[in-house]
Amino acid sequence: MDRFEIRGGRPLQGSVRASGSKNSVLALMASSILCDGDVVLGNVPRVRDLSTMIEILGALGVPAYWERENTLRIEAGEPRKVEAPYDLVRTMRASFMVLGPLLARCGRARVSLPGGCAIGARPVDQHLKGLEALGAKVDLTRGYVEARAERLRGARIPFDLPTVNGTQNVLMAACLAEGESRIENAAIEPEVGELIRVLTAMGAQIEGAGTDCLEVVGVSRLSGVEHQVAGDRIEAGTLLVAGAITRGEIEVTGIEPAQLRAVLDKLEGAGLDLEIGPDRVRLRYVGRIGGTRIKTAPFPGFPTDMQAQIMALLTLADEPSFVTETIFENRFMHVLELQRMGADIALDGRCAVIRGVRELQGAPVMATDLRASACLVLAGLAARGETNVLRVYHIDRGYDRIEEKLRELGGRIRRIRA
Ligand code: EPZ
Repeated sequence: MDRFEIRGGRPLQGSVRASGSKNSVLALMASSILCDGDVVLGNVPRVRDLSTMIEILGALGVPAYWERENTLRIEAGEPRKVEAPYDLVRTMRASFMVLGPLLARCGRARVSLPGGCAIGARPVDQHLKGLEALGAKVDLTRGYVEARAERLRGARIPFDLPTVNGTQNVLMAACLAEGESRIENAAIEPEVGELIRVLTAMGAQIEGAGTDCLEVVGVSRLSGVEHQVAGDRIEAGTLLVAGAITRGEIEVTGIEPAQLRAVLDKLEGAGLDLEIGPDRVRLRYVGRIGGTRIKTAPFPGFPTDMQAQIMALLTLADEPSFVTETIFENRFMHVLELQRMGADIALDGRCAVIRGVRELQGAPVMATDLRASACLVLAGLAARGETNVLRVYHIDRGYDRIEEKLRELGGRIRRIRA
């Protein structure tokens, strides 16, 4: 298993372009199942989660392959199989998003339940509630969801809570359902907005983009499309924190700053100087890192996917901070590793109280999930001495060559292949 060897203490300087959004691409790849034309996606990051989705589509008989370094082509054609196997779905829960498109396109699907993951139980009850509302018959047998529907029918679908992949899964199914659907309490994350733009370009009829109420008029077919994927707002936030925690000055380009508003507000509130352009953000450390209060929430609130990263920064603040994780029940595993680096963090259920320390000490630390891994890399870049982050396959799931980007900014980080 590869590890990152990091020597901390050097301020990061320079400009870096964010890769395309991995989470957007996952939904867009699933949507290709709906189309009778090829889907070509540009600005796609080379990350492991997308390799898994390529395998899933392959298992369905939908060829997907890299046409160029960052361009993915998914060939049209009705899926030849309708089963997404456990050994693939369990490694990447977003695979569950093929369920809605398979049902809509083929009338039946057999998809493994994703099961839990490191950060929480992550049930899929809302996905199933939405598909049943559209007329699907859903059975749970031996760890698989078996669903079938002659033709999905439009319906009113009130989600009990805003779920990103649940909204995407059900929205994709509704696009080919007969009649009108109304999805209420829909998630409004930018990745949902990007999917709506692409589905509309494919010929779907969707109103309400950007709101929590989506009105869909089903159509009989969707055509292929070419689309440039938006920059990854979470990678961008991670890179900005890298500049802050190392007391440097960096610019991240290729993003839509409005998608990171809550994170930018908190960085400014913590005393960092930000310059915001149309497709870029420049962050400068100007003498201090202040404390702040973070409470994760659905968009436009502070994103849970940035909680671990900003906590790394707050371990070095000159006053106490408070972080509350409201989305997932077990997303503090990075805390134990930060404590091993000398951070002063007290946990009480879903709340963490962080008292800033003068410096972190480098140490061998263990990555446990995608964003916890990023947090430990950030801490290592700031710590005194050497940090070894083990099991970096977690970080490879969602960051495209992060060590190269950080090295280009002056970070002393290298991958040790095991
Ligand atoms: C997406 O996961 C992202 N993944 C996650 O990013 C992100 O953390 C999450 O949204 C929240 O923003 C992808 O897009 C591939 P949810 P998703 O359904 O859609 C509960 C990363 O690091 N829930 O919005 O699975 C659930 O337990 C990953 O890139 C139900 O109760 O998240 C959670 O508490 C990690 N029933 C809350 O909703 C359901 O049927 C939000 O989850 C579905 C969800």
